[in-house]
Amino acid sequence: MRTLTTEEARSYYDRFGAKQDSQAFYEDRALEALTEHAAFAEARSVFEFGCGTGRFALGLLQHRLPDTASYFGTDVSSTMVRLATRRLAPFAPRATVALVDGSPVLALKDASVDRFVSTYVFDLLPAPAQRQLVAEALRVLQPGGLLCLCGITPGVTASSRFVMGVWRWLFTRNPDWVGGCRPTSAEDYLPAEAWRIHYRTVVTAWGVASEVVIATPMSPSSSPDGGNGGAGFSQSRRASST
Ligand SMILES: C[S@@+](CC[C@H](N)C(=O)[O-])C[C@H]1O[C@@H](n2cnc3c(N)ncnc32)[C@H](O)[C@@H]1O
Repeated sequence: MRTLTTEEARSYYDRFGAKQDSQAFYEDRALEALTEHAAFAEARSVFEFGCGTGRFALGLLQHRLPDTASYFGTDVSSTMVRLATRRLAPFAPRATVALVDGSPVLALKDASVDRFVSTYVFDLLPAPAQRQLVAEALRVLQPGGLLCLCGITPGVTASSRFVMGVWRWLFTRNPDWVGGCRPTSAEDYLPAEAWRIHYRTVVTAWGVASEVVIATPMSPSSSPDGGNGGAGFSQSRRASST
């Protein structure tokens, strides 16, 4: 299945710009679920990959993060970086945004952040980049840190199965029609032996299904059988819908 190249994604989101915020009608319920379960009140250093217009970051900075917490967002689109920088300006210098080349290899130090956030970005990345980025999350997260992901996923109800089926069909015809995003599942790129699933749900809104996954790096003392401490994908499947 063909995904957008980095250059195609940059060009698309440079054009799409502020219109990204119109996706709130299906994103917000899932983002609320993520926010509720990621203990942002205890966060000290948040990194966001593909921050878009900065809408999610602004909510975190206004309502969730302690005043001492720092935020660093990156995006491959200069339009998005401009919009997010302007939006987060009241929180500078502890909130910063940078334009990146789209590489899944990050210019972050080992164990330098305690929240790695990416919403509606993994679902547009090719599979090798998804896996590379997850490996980078493992490298840059501090022990006990949280990987916080959200993206479109296959449907879980009759209406969402239909809507997500149509979405996938549109994607296969022309990825540009759906912003380069296709339904994906985190279990396809999160290795069970390296991550403990802290929370997982699928939220549907207007037939669009979003998967929310919060995972923490497996500590060396965790179960050696790769059992995810009883909290792997199979045990953590839950669904809610509107
Ligand atoms: C569907 S939008 C989601 C934006 C935002 N996270 C949200 O939830 O509203 C995808 C974003 O990922 C960015 N993006 C796509 N590929 C990227 C890459 N390889 N590196 C960094 N950002 C990327 C796009 O420019 C765009 O801002």
